[in-house]
Amino acid sequence: MNEEQRKKQTVNEKETYAADKKSGQEKDFSQYFQTTYVPPNLKQAKKRGKENVEIHYDFEVPESMRETGKGKKFLIRTYGCQMNEHDSENMAGILLDMGFESTASTDDADVILLNTCAIRENAENKVFGEIGHLKTMKRERPELIIGVCGCMSQEESVVNKIMQKHQQVDLIFGTHNIHRLPHLMRDAILSKEMVIEVWSKEGDIIESMPRARKGQIQGWVNIMYGCDKFCTYCIVPYTRGKERSRRPEDIIEEVRHLARNGYKEITLLGQNVNAYGKDLADMNYGLGDLMDEIRKIDIPRVRFTTSHPRDFDDHLIEVLAKGGNLVEHIHLPVQSGNNEVLKLMARKYTRESYIELAGRIKKAMPHASFTTDIIVGFPNETEEQFEDTLSLVKEMEYDSCFTYIYSPRDGTPAAKMEDNVPHEVKRDRLRRLNEMVNDLSAKKNKAVEGKIMEVLVEGESKKDPEVLAGRTRTNRLVNFKAPKSCIGELIHVKITEAKTWSLNGQVVETAEVK
Ligand code: 5AD
Ligand code: SF4
Repeated sequence: MNEEQRKKQTVNEKETYAADKKSGQEKDFSQYFQTTYVPPNLKQAKKRGKENVEIHYDFEVPESMRETGKGKKFLIRTYGCQMNEHDSENMAGILLDMGFESTASTDDADVILLNTCAIRENAENKVFGEIGHLKTMKRERPELIIGVCGCMSQEESVVNKIMQKHQQVDLIFGTHNIHRLPHLMRDAILSKEMVIEVWSKEGDIIESMPRARKGQIQGWVNIMYGCDKFCTYCIVPYTRGKERSRRPEDIIEEVRHLARNGYKEITLLGQNVNAYGKDLADMNYGLGDLMDEIRKIDIPRVRFTTSHPRDFDDHLIEVLAKGGNLVEHIHLPVQSGNNEVLKLMARKYTRESYIELAGRIKKAMPHASFTTDIIVGFPNETEEQFEDTLSLVKEMEYDSCFTYIYSPRDGTPAAKMEDNVPHEVKRDRLRRLNEMVNDLSAKKNKAVEGKIMEVLVEGESKKDPEVLAGRTRTNRLVNFKAPKSCIGELIHVKITEAKTWSLNGQVVETAEVK
């Protein structure tokens, strides 16, 4: 179906819906929007992968829409992961090309977009809270456009709820529809009905979207989209579609561009970066090959996230061990330390193979810091199984961990599992895990007291504008006093005091390091 046909059908669907609603014969929302909205469906989603992904290099905001936003301001509120941060930069770029200006205040915004996260229920609750707040503002300023995008808009239940309870929302669009923003924004401004466009199809790769990057020190570089791993608790494979890798030459050009523009650090992004290249049919090329090329570009620091242990191969380890601008920090989500739970999660590795992989990485990169993600309270997790997680954390001596209580996500296999673990027990497990994680983190920080470390100065610290904050190559947060002119520079800092989650330090002359 081409764009024109799709649009026509969408209009028909909307009209049928509006008529049924008027006559009180409204059916479930998904019954109407066949072309623009298909709910997440594991069976269907697993059938992915056969059709080719097209790469488009010709995106442009149409000439006729370049003044749509003239005299108007937008604000994008981003929730969730770096991928959403990245997408928000694209949306901001598009809106700027449409003539909008950006603002940091909701009071003078004409357009407010909520770029949402669906990974856990509390992330969704936060967004619904915000949608609720905006209701009063919409009542006072009916011309305000409120849009909901990102991962939550890919969920049928969320779209239904917004349709039924939050008529103040003007626009809903999905993660595969970002390039459609000029048309959607124009429709939202012109239409009295809620504009909804959520494609469940995987989406092509749109290379030439405009980009308004936040900051000039660190840049996100997306290397792939989607995830095909289908861990049983995770909604990402449904909200972000199948794995699609960007062409290496496009990624390398983007990194070169950032280097030329003075960026000091880039982070290569993907839901599962270790699967990079598997879908590139015409070449045998993986993350290791890509990093080996990026290593040669004159940019001081290169990070990557997120890894899946299953696809972390020896070639990548070999390349990372070359160091240089490839920093020694490995984020390797483990999720659980118990083999039965790992199996139920469909992680497809064991505790033993994870530890063995970490050992290989540590051997090649002895100074690397290790961080991880852990879920406690997966359905029916026993005390013994949880203790396996504790013992793994102890054995791995992580530098820091992101820890979560399992949150059932509609449409995922784990959400159908019965769960006999009371919430208080899950909360207590999280508390016990965090206690261990914090102790380890404090211990790791203590070990660098007195050391001189290279720090990339990111800006003022969150707590005190007189203090600057930056990160070491190993991703430790350091606070220190220095002139503001240091922001964006790589400097050397002597660590004077270790805290649980951060370090305090004093700037030293580089000469002292030698
Ligand atoms: N419940 C709790 N945590 C989750 N994560 C992903 N899905 C869920 C869920 N349903 C966590 C995983 C993942 C991180 C980004 O979020 O630990 O690595
Ligand atoms: Fe979710 Fe990550 Fe598993 Fe993909 S690899 S399904 S994003 S937890």
